[in-house]
Parts: sequence; C-alpha cells; structure tokens
Amino acid sequence: MHVKRLTIMFAFTLPLFSLLLLFSSTTAQAQPYIAIEHFLLDCGSSSTATSDQKWDGDHHSEFIPSNITTTSFTSTPYHRDSSVPQTPYSTARIFNTSSFTYTFPVSQGPKFLRLYFYPATYSNLNANQSFFSVSSNGYSLLTNFSAFATASFLGNTRVGSPSVPHFFKEFAIYVQDTQLLNVTFTPSPNSYAFINGIEIVSMPENLYFNAMNLKYVGQNSGPVINNKTALENVYRLNMGGGQIPGNDDTGMYRSWDQDNNYIYGPIGLTPVYQNPIAYTTETPNYTAPELIYQTQRSMGNQSELYNLTWILPVDSGFYYKLRLHFCNIIPQYTKKGQMIFTIYINNQTAEEEADLFQWTKGTGNPVFRDYIVFVSDQDGRKSKQDLWLELHPNPNSEEYRDGYLNGLEVFRLSMNGNLSSPNPELSPSAQLPRPTSPVKENTKKTPPYAVIIGGGGGGLILWSILALIVFKQRRAKTFGNGESKSTKSCHPSLPTDRCRHFSLEEVKIATREFSEVSYL
Ligand SMILES: *[C@@H]1O[C@H](CO)[C@@H](O)[C@H](O)[C@H]1NC(C)=O
Ligand SMILES: *[C@@H]1O[C@H](CO)[C@@H](O)[C@H](O)[C@H]1NC(C)=O
Ligand SMILES: *[C@@H]1O[C@H](CO)[C@@H](O)[C@H](O)[C@H]1NC(C)=O
Ligand SMILES: *[C@@H]1O[C@H](CO)[C@@H](O)[C@H](O)[C@H]1NC(C)=O
Ligand SMILES: *[C@@H]1O[C@H](CO)[C@@H](O)[C@H](O)[C@H]1NC(C)=O
Ligand SMILES: *[C@@H]1O[C@H](CO)[C@@H](O)[C@H](O)[C@H]1NC(C)=O
Ligand SMILES: *[C@@H]1O[C@H](CO)[C@@H](O)[C@H](O)[C@H]1NC(C)=O
Ligand SMILES: *[C@@H]1O[C@H](CO)[C@@H](O)[C@H](O)[C@H]1NC(C)=O
Ligand SMILES: *[C@@H]1O[C@H](CO)[C@@H](O)[C@H](O)[C@H]1NC(C)=O
Ligand SMILES: *[C@@H]1O[C@H](CO)[C@@H](O)[C@H](O)[C@H]1NC(C)=O
Ligand SMILES: *[C@@H]1O[C@H](CO)[C@@H](O)[C@H](O)[C@H]1NC(C)=O
Repeated sequence: MHVKRLTIMFAFTLPLFSLLLLFSSTTAQAQPYIAIEHFLLDCGSSSTATSDQKWDGDHHSEFIPSNITTTSFTSTPYHRDSSVPQTPYSTARIFNTSSFTYTFPVSQGPKFLRLYFYPATYSNLNANQSFFSVSSNGYSLLTNFSAFATASFLGNTRVGSPSVPHFFKEFAIYVQDTQLLNVTFTPSPNSYAFINGIEIVSMPENLYFNAMNLKYVGQNSGPVINNKTALENVYRLNMGGGQIPGNDDTGMYRSWDQDNNYIYGPIGLTPVYQNPIAYTTETPNYTAPELIYQTQRSMGNQSELYNLTWILPVDSGFYYKLRLHFCNIIPQYTKKGQMIFTIYINNQTAEEEADLFQWTKGTGNPVFRDYIVFVSDQDGRKSKQDLWLELHPNPNSEEYRDGYLNGLEVFRLSMNGNLSSPNPELSPSAQLPRPTSPVKENTKKTPPYAVIIGGGGGGLILWSILALIVFKQRRAKTFGNGESKSTKSCHPSLPTDRCRHFSLEEVKIATREFSEVSYL
C-alpha cells in the first residue's frame, strides 16, 4: 500500500524551507547490504530502460513462458500523465485468457517481491473492469484484485491530494530449496489482469524472517514468523523526516514515506541529529538507513494528558507485525530512568515502560522492537480498520515526560498462506485516477518541516519547531471554511470534523507556545 514518492508538504513549511536547506547535508549513505539478486522487469517492454535504475523488458526475458504471445499481449496506457514515471509504467503486459507465470531462478532465502501497477486504459480495456489474482510459490497474494479501486483508495487518503495513479505492492517470501520464485497472474472470469513491473530483491536472512523477540499485544502468544510465513508490507514510515526513495535505502530498495498523513492530534516535535548513527550487532547497518534514525517525532516535555498518536488503516482479519525503530538522539537523555514512556497498540499496552536509554545504552545507537497484534473483523466481515499506535508519558519517568519514535514498519502476516483482502470500496463517482501535480523527486535529505531554532551543544542536535500544534478538534470545521491560507491534514478514515486544519496564524501561535516549553 505504498504511495511512491508522494510528498506532501504542509503549506506553512514553505517559507521556512530556505532555513532548512542550510542543514540538509547529512553523512554519506552507505549501501551496507549487497543484494544477491536484484531483478527489475519492465513488463510489456522489449527493450532495456534506464531511469534511476536499469529495468529489463520482459519480451525476450528468460523469466517468461515460451507461449507468451498466445497467453498475453502488451499494451501502452491510452494516456500516461507526465507525473507518472515512464519506467515501468509506460508499458504493461495484459492477460485476458488464461493464467500466466513468470519464473525467477533465485537463491534460497527471503526475497522481496514488488508488483508495480498503473491502472490506466490499455487497448480500450477499462481500468475498472480489471480483476485478477496473483499467487507466488503457493501463497495467495491478491484475490480478485482491482488495481483501480486500490489506486482510488490511496488517492483519497492523501491530503488535498491528487489521486494516486500508480503504486506498488511489496511482499516478502522465503524461497525454499526449489530456488524458484514464480509469480502467477490469473484474470477473474470475463476480466483481465495486467502488470507494469516486477522487482525481486534479496534481503538478509534474519532481518524480517526471525521468530525471536516478538512481543504479542493483547494476547499471550500468537503466530511466529518463520520460513512458511509470507508478509506484505503495508507501511514503512520515517517519523518526523522526509521521504526516502529506494535508491537511498540500505541495499534493499525499500522506500520510506513521511508520517505526517497518519498523525492524529498533536504533531509533537521533529528533532534532527547530525552525527553518524552507531549501528550495533543487534541492529546492523542494513536494518534501516541513517536518515531514519537521525530524525524522529517526539512529544517534548509534556503533561500526562498527552498522547502522540498515529492512525493507520489496515485490513481486518489479519495479524500485523509492527517494527518500531528508535534511536536516542536527544543529548539531554543520558541515563536510564530519566525518560520513560508507554506504548499502546490498538489501545492495548504494548510496552509499559519503554526506557530507550536503557535499551540503547547511549546516544546515536539504534534499536528496534517487534510487536504482533491481531486486527479483528467488525460485524463479522473483513473491512478497513484503524490501527492505533500511541506513545504516552510514563508517570515513573524521573525527569522528562517525553516519548519518541524514529521509524515504523507494518507488515501483514499471511493466514494459511493467504494475504488477500477485499478491494477497498469505490466511491460511486470514482474516476480513473488523475494525477495533477508533478511528482517530487529527491526529497531525501531534507526533513520536510524540521526548522532549526537552536544549534547549541556543538551542533549535535537541532530542534525543530512547528511543534505543539494543539489539535483543536472542535474548531476544525471553522478553519476549514475555504480559507485559502489554511492547509488541511485529514486522515481517510476519520470523519471530516476530526481532520486537522492549520492556518498560518495557528502555526505562529504554536511556535510561540513551543518556545515556552522547549528544552532549550
Ligand atoms: C556495515 O557492516 C558491515 C559488516 O559489519 C561492514 O563491513 C560495513 O563497513 C558497514 N558499513 C557501514 C557503512 O558501517
Ligand atoms: C503456456 O505454457 C505454460 C507453461 O509451459 C502452460 O502451463 C500453459 O498451460 C500454457 N498455456 C497455454 C494457453 O497454452
Ligand atoms: C483478449 O484480448 C485480445 C486482444 O485485445 C482479443 O483479441 C481477445 O478477443 C481477448 N480475449 C478475450 C477472451 O477476451
Ligand atoms: C468504468 O469506467 C468507465 C469509463 O470511465 C465508466 O464509463 C463506467 O461507468 C465505469 N464502470 C463502473 C462500474 O464504475
Ligand atoms: C510455483 O511454485 C510453487 C511452490 O514452489 C509450486 O507449488 C507451483 O506448482 C509453482 N507453480 C508454477 C505455475 O510453476
Ligand atoms: C470480483 O469483484 C467484483 C467487484 O467487487 C465482483 O463484481 C466480482 O463478482 C468478483 N469476482 C469474483 C470471481 O469474486
Ligand atoms: C529457514 O530455512 C533455513 C534454511 O533452510 C533454516 O536454516 C532456518 O532454520 C529456517 N528458519 C525457520 C524459522 O524455520
Ligand atoms: C518537564 O515538565 C514538568 C511538568 O511541567 C516540569 O515540572 C519539569 O521541570 C520539566 N522538566 C524539564 C527538564 O524541563
Ligand atoms: C482506540 O481508542 C480510540 C479513542 O478512544 C477509539 O476511537 C478506537 O476505536 C479504539 N480502537 C480500538 C481498536 O479499540
Ligand atoms: C492515550 O492512549 C491510551 C491508550 O489508548 C488511552 O487509554 C488514554 O486515555 C490516552 N490519553 C489521552 C490523553 O488521549
Ligand atoms: C484468500 O482470501 C480471500 C479473501 O478473504 C479469499 O477470497 C480467497 O478465496 C482466499 N484464497 C485462498 C486460496 O484461500
């Protein structure tokens, strides 16, 4: 459910942007993990395309069956908006008769499988008429899937946003000793399947397929993650920082999105750390890029009435694994007991006392924790449900009432080899998604609204403002009455009166409020 390179900045950050650029350089990106294999297949194309990566056309590929011309055909979008990247979205392979299998020879071990979709009009076929299933190595990844409905849903979830016309789905599968990864597309009856691009990349053996240190939330035990589990990544977020494109990942081409669309209530602070991250044997340098750990979203020194909250819509009826990435980047936190907070997942206690200094033993050391939670169906049927993640100051904290998070990954776990969920409901007026604004590239090294208000302490840490915008829920509608200077952040699953609307005035007020309570 990723939205590739969709960068939305709150309007009020723009005047402050120049300040930001001053601090936009970070330490060099390393590529600590060298993938054993990395396939990029440009489906429906007969040539090799080089964008920021090299994609091979599938037409003469060794990965396709020999009867390719009788079981599929290629097409180009009737209209490709200029904001949609040319590769792999300017060609598609279409299957309207029978199923079609790509077969990739790979080594044994865990692999990412990314499927790229651009639901456009191909060969006079309406995008809303395409329903198909995808399976791989015996796992059912998608069932009667509508890329059109998925893109419409993603489009509607973004702030004042263009629809999202293209997206990819990311799965993780453990390839056994057959050393083959097959991907089968099967059109639903009287329908057609299509695919624009397929990416396969290996990953370190124990990064995600690891049964160790799983903590169950709301139950004493639950599923383990082993070689039989298939995963789907549904969120990968860089808290308080910018979008990180796949090329800046640690060798696995994972892309990390901003978290701003998912915050509910106060948005907290977004401190930035300028020093290199000190990886450890428990948290090796491929775990997540430095940029993940160098930014965070924190509460600041707060009262006990404060929760820092993210709301993430997910499909019900599945277990989810949440990987929370932390790094102590605040120089004042130098001993255990000093700053402790509680973590709630779906209103249940996941961690009573998170004492990050005790977990990390120092400043700049990253650590992650994995939690498993079941999201149950409502009214006995599968639907989109909100997954709540909340941080709350702990009364036992000796000095600071704070809490923070640097990064978050959310994975859906297969149930009996199945990862499929129903299509999101289409609103009656759903149109072909139409992109309207240019895709922003290269946002990687500029945390979007980190604004520097103090560079003391040897430039170790730079505090950001735009914090402490107290969410005035009841006033939201008042601010939303068409004023051009207000900017809106609304979560898809929230009723309109729970959307946040900020005016520039509010931001200024919030900024002043911040200076009174800041650490500095
Ligand atoms: C990452 O870790 C590997 C193995 O310890 C090491 O060889 C490599 O230099 C490290 N890279 C960085 C950027 O620290
Ligand atoms: C195409 O080839 C595949 C694998 O060789 C086979 O399973 C499939 O039945 C063939 N399809 C048709 C329509 O001949
Ligand atoms: C599949 O598409 C091709 C090309 O558009 C068309 O000739 C054929 O009739 C279609 N087959 C079915 C079963 O829809
Ligand atoms: C599918 O899209 C076409 C073209 O945009 C439209 O005319 C048709 O009403 C849509 N059908 C459904 C079921 O939404
Ligand atoms: C794909 O792989 C699975 C598991 O290895 C195997 O059971 C299945 O038969 C394969 N399907 C095809 C079409 O090759
Ligand atoms: C696929 O979904 C569409 C739209 O919800 C529905 O009309 C169709 O019956 C479904 N097909 C199958 C095979 O479930
Ligand atoms: C997964 O497979 C590998 C290789 O066969 C094996 O070493 C490892 O123990 C397996 N892991 C689990 C959790 O089953
Ligand atoms: C944190 O806030 C509490 C309550 O407002 C206050 O008593 C305490 O002095 C603050 N601590 C620091 C270090 O600012
Ligand atoms: C968690 O609490 C919030 C606020 O009280 C509520 O709206 C939401 O439905 C709860 N979520 C769950 C999964 O219980
Ligand atoms: C914070 O979240 C917890 C768990 O959902 C809830 O019990 C508590 O009431 C919340 N506190 C505030 C101030 O929202
Ligand atoms: C997987 O789950 C979907 C949605 O619940 C269901 O429609 C489909 O039949 C299941 N597939 C298999 C192979 O069990």
